[in-house]
Amino acid sequence: MCGIIGCALKNGSAAPILRKGLMRLEYRGYDSAGVATIHDGKIHLKKDSGKIDEIHARLNLDDLPGSIGIAHTRWATHGAPSQVNAHPHIDCDGLVAVVHNGVIENFLELKEELIDRRHFFRSRTDTEVIAHLIEEGLEAGKSLLESTIAAVKRLKGSYALAIISPREPDKIVFARNESPLIIGLGDGVNFIASDVAAFIEHTRRAIFIDNGEVGYITPSEVRVFKVDSGVEINKRIIELTWTIEEAERSGYPHFTLKEIYEQPQTVREALKAQEKYLDLLTEFLDRGRDVFLLAAGTSHNACIAASYMFSKIARLTTIPVIASEFIENYGRSIGIDSIILAVSQSGETADVLAAVDHARMTAATILAVTNVVGSTLTRVSRAYVLQNSGPEIGVAATKTFTAQLTVLAQLALRLARKRGKLAQYEIDELEEELRKLPELVEKTLAISDKPMRDLAKELANARSIFFLGRGISYATALEARLKVMELSYIPCIAYPAGESKHGPISVIEDGYPVFFIAPSDSTRKHILGNIMEMKARGAKIYCVGTEGDNELRENVDWWLGLPKVHEILSPIIYVIPFQFLAYYLALERGLDPDKPRNLAKSVTVL
Ligand code: F6R
Repeated sequence: MCGIIGCALKNGSAAPILRKGLMRLEYRGYDSAGVATIHDGKIHLKKDSGKIDEIHARLNLDDLPGSIGIAHTRWATHGAPSQVNAHPHIDCDGLVAVVHNGVIENFLELKEELIDRRHFFRSRTDTEVIAHLIEEGLEAGKSLLESTIAAVKRLKGSYALAIISPREPDKIVFARNESPLIIGLGDGVNFIASDVAAFIEHTRRAIFIDNGEVGYITPSEVRVFKVDSGVEINKRIIELTWTIEEAERSGYPHFTLKEIYEQPQTVREALKAQEKYLDLLTEFLDRGRDVFLLAAGTSHNACIAASYMFSKIARLTTIPVIASEFIENYGRSIGIDSIILAVSQSGETADVLAAVDHARMTAATILAVTNVVGSTLTRVSRAYVLQNSGPEIGVAATKTFTAQLTVLAQLALRLARKRGKLAQYEIDELEEELRKLPELVEKTLAISDKPMRDLAKELANARSIFFLGRGISYATALEARLKVMELSYIPCIAYPAGESKHGPISVIEDGYPVFFIAPSDSTRKHILGNIMEMKARGAKIYCVGTEGDNELRENVDWWLGLPKVHEILSPIIYVIPFQFLAYYLALERGLDPDKPRNLAKSVTVL
């Protein structure tokens, strides 16, 4: 996730407005930034790695001349954070400057094709191909809009684009597919941005651009067209009522809720993990004598789910290990044939890095799944795949869990294919389920918000809550427990449902709240027995299961039915109600869900 802004002013200097707008978008990414303007028939450009303030202190972004410009704050997905990889990107001859939010999936093939046609590439980003494609259109005598339309027709993936060219110095051309893009209509000024927060100081009149739309702004004009047909569209103008702070959270009261609701998009982005790196990791995983899944907190819970995925579909045994225990437990038994797959959103968790350091000394192979290019983990690993979910500002990990699992499921599926462990129809089925995931996540958000909000009222004064699941749902139970506990401060217990009778059942007394995570999968046949055991001791049973499972529904005190989903993907769907429950319990208990006490987003101490 990155942030883009463009500003077309009638009079005055665009650069200071662009920089201030960028600051409002910094929550979308902050590893590098840049601004490009047009003046005297030329593109003027400043960009660097670092946060916007640091770059501004070094380069003075405000003194770029001109009344038209574009800017970008980056969260790296292709190419490490560096000066050359920062946006805007320009073509060979300085005919065009482009800023982009999204991921171009077919950039490697486009890049090869463009290099064959003697284009010169400066960066390792996916975005730069767009500048060169547009350049070809301009060289062929097309307008900037026509060249952009021709370029985006070649792109596969997600993009929100803003483009300027000295050939048409009063214009910013834009295009959108799957990444947000909004126009702000001012007086003698128009904006285009990833988010209204970037321009709400200047105007509250906005037009929301939809997928498959393209167009341009000038200081006095806005025109929008369909990419496919070229037909012009009359868009509705919306009057925004948000404060600046609300705008930064897209109108949500907290970042945590915003991030829970971002999940259809972040799962979609995680599905765009780069093929060549997925293949590379698959190669290593296939070769290891022993494979450890190393992580802390939520990322560890994702690893537990992943261990079921790898074993169920790829017949690979993996050992999920809590990072802080790794050296004591396995430090002396690993070696050159060991594979360590470290999973860490931040890529900076000290426990993970200490375990990785130790493993490197034994010549083990380090692989990673992370959200931060340029993090220490990306530098010490042999190969890594990105979860692509943009900065997570709420301290509790929400979109991280679902994005990591989306990446890990793709890895498991690739390995299954490589090992010939699944029939073709099973591979097809799973691929189809993966494609449908963003839609399922969206449905689940809609189904679970209100029931969990209501339930939080009922459970606000609970002394303790139990979470149980069998099979892969044990990982969901662990994550449900972690979320509820860290946001509500209610002590919680999570167990594999089958194990609960071996001890923890003794805490059950009349009315004790017990959640069962019970999708209709291979564990479903045993879960009713576990429910009955708890019920017989007076527990109040809350159950999240599959829509239409009437037998379960009739045997529990509270029920939420979710859409049917492939067994190995179920944690991605079933965790969502518990993210809501944790969030609403925090509110009911008068707590700040974005900043739970005693916790830090990235734990950099051992
Ligand atoms: C829980 C949470 C933490 C992190 C843990 C690991 O909501 O946010 O438990 O999951 O500190 O962080 P990363 O994934 O950055 O290594």
